[in-house]
Amino acid sequence: MKSIVVANWKMNPISGKEAKRLFGATKKAADAAKNVSVIVAPPSIYLRELSIGYKGKRLSFAVQNVSAEAEGAFTGEISLAQARDAKATYALVGHAERRAMGETNDDIRRKVSAVLAVGMTAIVCVGETTRSQDGEYFDRVREQLATGLADISASKLGRIVIAYEPVWAIGAEKPMSARDMHEMAIFIRKAIVDQHGPAGMNIKILYGGSVDGTNAAEMLRDGDVMGFVLGRASYDAQKFSMLMNALSTT
Ligand code: PGA
Repeated sequence: MKSIVVANWKMNPISGKEAKRLFGATKKAADAAKNVSVIVAPPSIYLRELSIGYKGKRLSFAVQNVSAEAEGAFTGEISLAQARDAKATYALVGHAERRAMGETNDDIRRKVSAVLAVGMTAIVCVGETTRSQDGEYFDRVREQLATGLADISASKLGRIVIAYEPVWAIGAEKPMSARDMHEMAIFIRKAIVDQHGPAGMNIKILYGGSVDGTNAAEMLRDGDVMGFVLGRASYDAQKFSMLMNALSTT
């Protein structure tokens, strides 16, 4: 099965010209790794120009955040209809950086429903802020999944991707160990099966947090994940190309 890489550019790069250049490099690197599906999540101000200009089939597009509201007086927000019209087929929901700005599990629940309602796929980000020996972080993740996916029927799970991104490993020096990720993947699957039944067994799970070309292959092999959400290794063209190279031989 193809692995998945989400290139979350966050609030980068600084100009449309740079965004086009980065997109060019992203396309090139993606072409070299046919076994990987690449989903580019640029800042929404760049999304339409990049997606409309793109004629290939290798890449898909995501928005980094969306409103759960359909339309109306919501200054600064972007609706799902607008995102879909700009050719996004995926939406990141509940990224740790959005949660840090105040997004709650309940907000995420509403957004996930809204994403599915327009026929797009939700990449639902979960992950604890810190870890301690008592395993309390499992409760945090279970709660994020239980509320975030509360309105979803089992038949819709195919349009949900879970991105496990422990906050302490985002923007850090190194990712969590593949062994710990494997354990978390089992836990996530169990939590979803408990809530939605056996269909939860097939849930797609990604890992995010300090992934790059030096550690991605091991994580893909031993971490029980289908792929990654990248930050820094996606908006640095050289790092992205290294990573795609590493995955093309995995
Ligand atoms: P990072 O970010 O790869 O720069 O650690 C990951 C993320 O926030 O998705």
